[in-house]
Amino acid sequence: MAELTPNPAEDRGAWKSKLGFILAASGSAIGLGNIVFFASNAYQYGGGAFYLPYFIALFVLGIPVMIIEFSIGTMTGKSFPVAMRQLVGKRGEYAAWWTISCALFITMYYITILGWALTMFVGAFGGLLTDPAIAPFTGMDTPTDGPNATVYFFGMIATWAPMLSVAAIWGMTILILWRGTKTIEAAVRIFVPLMWLFMIILIVRGLTLPGGVDGVLYLFTPNMDGIMDVNVWQGAFAQMFFSLSLGLGTMVAYASYLPKDADQINNSMLVSFLNCGFEYIAGVAIFAMLFVYALNPAGTTLSLSFFAIPQGIANFPFGVKAFGAFFFFLLVIAGLTSAVSLVEGMASSLIDKLGISRAKGLTMVMVPGIVGSFAFALPNVIDPTLSGDGTLGLTLLDIVDHWAFRYSLLIGGLFECILIGWILGADKLRAFVNKNSKFNLGPWFNVQIKFVIPIILSLVIAGTLWQDLSGGLYGSTYDMEGYQWLPAALPVFWFLSTVVMSYVLTNRPTQEHAPHNVSNPA
Ligand code: PHE
Repeated sequence: MAELTPNPAEDRGAWKSKLGFILAASGSAIGLGNIVFFASNAYQYGGGAFYLPYFIALFVLGIPVMIIEFSIGTMTGKSFPVAMRQLVGKRGEYAAWWTISCALFITMYYITILGWALTMFVGAFGGLLTDPAIAPFTGMDTPTDGPNATVYFFGMIATWAPMLSVAAIWGMTILILWRGTKTIEAAVRIFVPLMWLFMIILIVRGLTLPGGVDGVLYLFTPNMDGIMDVNVWQGAFAQMFFSLSLGLGTMVAYASYLPKDADQINNSMLVSFLNCGFEYIAGVAIFAMLFVYALNPAGTTLSLSFFAIPQGIANFPFGVKAFGAFFFFLLVIAGLTSAVSLVEGMASSLIDKLGISRAKGLTMVMVPGIVGSFAFALPNVIDPTLSGDGTLGLTLLDIVDHWAFRYSLLIGGLFECILIGWILGADKLRAFVNKNSKFNLGPWFNVQIKFVIPIILSLVIAGTLWQDLSGGLYGSTYDMEGYQWLPAALPVFWFLSTVVMSYVLTNRPTQEHAPHNVSNPA
């Protein structure tokens, strides 16, 4: 692809080529969401009933919001909060810091999950897929007959070993981010092609298993009953936001390293199609395997990748250890390039706002980040009968994920559409985008970002809130002696701390110049 004209904001960093940007943005989008969450959502909501709403969500919501986020980045050459302040004033900055603060929580547990994947990767070379397993939970405390990934997983999270993996993932993330766009670009040039290669190997394996094709048919057979269910639509919209890395300022940060004349319609389509293409391939590979071995990934979203798929792999006629290692390695590299983008979104926001060095910006994210990731990996068994999640870490993760995942991204997207559509003006955005694009956005785009998307997002958010308020408090049925206060305390803590962070950061003076020269360190 063509070399780019230099970015005027050269000292913040700049992508060397369009290919570098596309690889980085698609590396951000392709992650645990595509492998772990897409397939388990699709399974939970009934295969064909899910992918149709999901496909609609891509065009109605996904691509337009990505165009908005890319444009916020290139219009201003700044990360989310400072960019929003420039475009729509202080309330835009409040909203942006709030979502950036939510991104911190999501990053913490995203990296813990990656740490578990890394521990499972190491386990695949050992006994994970071949030996009987044992875990310190009632019913799991005698050795199983053969390998059992579920028991292995619970045994693993009840040890301190994942702490090491979590530290290793944070270390790799910071290393990749050290020199900004330079090192990110170098890493994604290796990791992104590699994840496609590994996924293709897995799909070939899945489809050549006898009976594998049936799973694929299930995934792609539209199911009209499911389509009438609001939960399916809610799941599809939330999953689309997460999968495309929208609503948390990540894509704004990546786009801020592009030249002002980048074609954002083209970029948004490319990144979205690469992401969803990968997701469908992953879905096919996974559904093939589930059907062949009649596996039922009931329970949490994690169960699919950590229990069901490894169990399927353990049943392969050959290459069990190799495929097991492949699969977890794939999870780790796909997730790593996403974690990198999450941290970059936060660190660059701090750098742009406070005028601090890159090292300082990264440290300010890393220190609380590591503490949080460690907390989500705490191995203390608090629920020996596994009425909920078993360990303290997994329980914290499950409850925080429930709130942060369901609200942050969609609220972030809602703020963006309302503020950009109404305060900056949809016409202005459209004029900016159209100037550099071969394909032009018509006046329908105004309707889209001022009405259609805000209405859909408000309905989904309100529906989710209604579910949360009318049902019992999430997690309150778990039988955890001494920890019954967690289900109420965690959402309050999450909400208050994100609001306070947003308030404090917005009211700090904005430093006009980023003094640190990223692309050419002295
Ligand atoms: N898109 C990533 C995934 O699918 C997760 C992510 C969300 C990354 C938001 C950055 C921002 O795993």
